[in-house]
Amino acid sequence: MPSKDQVLGDFYYKEAKRGGYRSRSALKLKEIAEKHRIFKKGQVVVDLGAAPGGWLQIEREMVGPEGIIIGVDLSQIAPLPFDNVWLIRGDITAPEVMEQVSSLAGGKVDVVVSDLAPKFSGIHDLDHARQIDLSSMALASSSHMLRTGGSMVMKVLMGSEFRQFLSSVERRFGSVKIHKPKASRDSSSEVYLVCTGFRGQSSS
Ligand SMILES: C[S@@+](CC[C@H](N)C(=O)[O-])C[C@H]1O[C@@H](n2cnc3c(N)ncnc32)[C@H](O)[C@@H]1O
Repeated sequence: MPSKDQVLGDFYYKEAKRGGYRSRSALKLKEIAEKHRIFKKGQVVVDLGAAPGGWLQIEREMVGPEGIIIGVDLSQIAPLPFDNVWLIRGDITAPEVMEQVSSLAGGKVDVVVSDLAPKFSGIHDLDHARQIDLSSMALASSSHMLRTGGSMVMKVLMGSEFRQFLSSVERRFGSVKIHKPKASRDSSSEVYLVCTGFRGQSSS
């Protein structure tokens, strides 16, 4: 008999396919964005860890043709059929890659999202620590890129370093909510931090 997680995983996989999305993860961002009203038409969005591009599809739906979306990943992302979705293949921990993102954005951005995940070893503590390292890099980058009042959505794996990381996020944003999307498996330690009201670079 399949577990509840397997049944739900299969359901959301089929839902994502039906919607034409590249990843099941797309449904997680859709739920978060609709509930917390993250995106507005015409906004500039930076997506860290964007491959294969499911989140990019949701962002494009939400900001429309007048917005700008910049996706970055270590892996190649197949182009999307929109001229306002720009893709960079690179490592978000490399300063020159993030400089490229900033120069493409041409100024401060409205929203930074991060679904970054390391290559999983299966050892929870190690995977958690690596994911928190990536999220810390994403947070540091967002502090340079975001406009005051901007928003961030970030995946984080729960574990021993979570509380300390959460405190560093809370120092930078007026509101930080923890969201577990329906499409996220119960057995997964992932949660999403929904951060609004960036306080500005001096809060870093
Ligand atoms: C869960 S996937 C993202 C899925 C994506 N949100 C979607 O809906 O299609 C996590 C991604 O993080 C990327 N990643 C991990 N470390 C990275 C790094 N240092 N720089 C850029 N991308 C990285 C991985 O290559 C992987 O594609």
